[in-house]
Amino acid sequence: MAEPPHRGAGGWRGPAAAVAALVLVAGCGPPPGEAEGSGGLADDPKFVWAVTGADRPAHEAVARLWNENNPDRQVEVYFLAPTADEQRRALFQDLQSRAGDFDVLGLDVIWTGEFADFGYVESLEDLRPEVEGVSLPGALDSAQWQDELYALPYSSNGAFLYYRTDLVDEPPRTWEELYETGTAAAEEAGISGYVGQGDQYEGFVVTYLELFWSAGGELFDEDQTRSTFLEGDAAERSLDFMSRAHEGGLFAEGFDSMVEDDARALFQAGEAVYMRNWPYAIPLLEGEAGEESAVAGKFGVAPLPTFDGEGSTSALGGLNNAVSTLSDSKELAREFVLWAATDPGAQEALIEHSIAPTMLSIYEEAEDPNVQLLGEILTEAHPRPPVPGYNSLSLAVQDNVYPAYLGHEDPRKALEAVDRAAGEALGQE
Ligand code: GLC
Repeated sequence: MAEPPHRGAGGWRGPAAAVAALVLVAGCGPPPGEAEGSGGLADDPKFVWAVTGADRPAHEAVARLWNENNPDRQVEVYFLAPTADEQRRALFQDLQSRAGDFDVLGLDVIWTGEFADFGYVESLEDLRPEVEGVSLPGALDSAQWQDELYALPYSSNGAFLYYRTDLVDEPPRTWEELYETGTAAAEEAGISGYVGQGDQYEGFVVTYLELFWSAGGELFDEDQTRSTFLEGDAAERSLDFMSRAHEGGLFAEGFDSMVEDDARALFQAGEAVYMRNWPYAIPLLEGEAGEESAVAGKFGVAPLPTFDGEGSTSALGGLNNAVSTLSDSKELAREFVLWAATDPGAQEALIEHSIAPTMLSIYEEAEDPNVQLLGEILTEAHPRPPVPGYNSLSLAVQDNVYPAYLGHEDPRKALEAVDRAAGEALGQE
């Protein structure tokens, strides 16, 4: 983990400077609505929210709702790149260079410890009573570091196994069953067996860890004092499954360079039997988002399989909103963060776009079976530990397990390197 040059708060730029910078960025980039840059949602912005450019319509709807209700305190959205690694880089750049263009930071659930440790985000501990019992407990846990809240839950995320109802009778319960039915149905239909997140980035880490957890593995002991990565055979078994899926043709060609939306596009074109993806894909696959879909009415969602057919393991994903210590609109930013966590309208805007909300009541009241299933998956979901050293652990998985599953590195060496990184990640507090 590279040490940023500065720690702690200080230095500010007014919203006017921030917006000027955003307009500049938007002015020379791709057309608005399609890529990174300002969302163009406010005519008189008072603060800026940096959030993922994936799931853009959902976050736009939330910002519009705020602006309608707060015409004198409008938020501008700055859409970051769609993948987690690029988002982290952009946020770090803003903070390290002390540009301070962003007031509210949409943080992936794995970054809390790191951003808190660097002094990049304000403590929101005093807001705990507002979210306790309101937000999903797992989402709340992910927003804290050393028992202190540094962000508030906003959107959650959990894995679905998408499957083609016209090609397989039942969703598989075990990875082996998935392997067999996936390769057989793929061969018959002349398409691929499985698409998902196989590129060398955080999404790959999620793919690997979901296999690892579903083989009974745990990264750390309960007190988070030491790595248990190599205990039992989960690390090996999950890597072995990936190598076999790569060599034996379960994974689609190009799996090793796919991020979420590549997989979604292939599945939507009818090119795969199975897909691991987040819930955002549902409306697109149904053909409800203005794009054609070859699989509308021909797919179902189920929990991911496990190795022994018992239970299911998804990684817990999602975003928490934090207040930047460089913000000069901290009060307003705090209010927005609290509103986005607790306002039923804001949280409903998420589920309307098939993005998992963090408010418990939405799941409790849900009638849509997919939302009910998502609620169950999220309750059981496995957190990636938001320790400050998480990023270096993630990079160790990316740098070692990725080449190993492609047959370019010795599996044992790769797993030992991850074990060392897991131990070191704990030491970097
Ligand atoms: C999704 C999840 C996030 C995860 C990322 C990996 O955006 O919400 O938590 O890190 O995917 O690609």
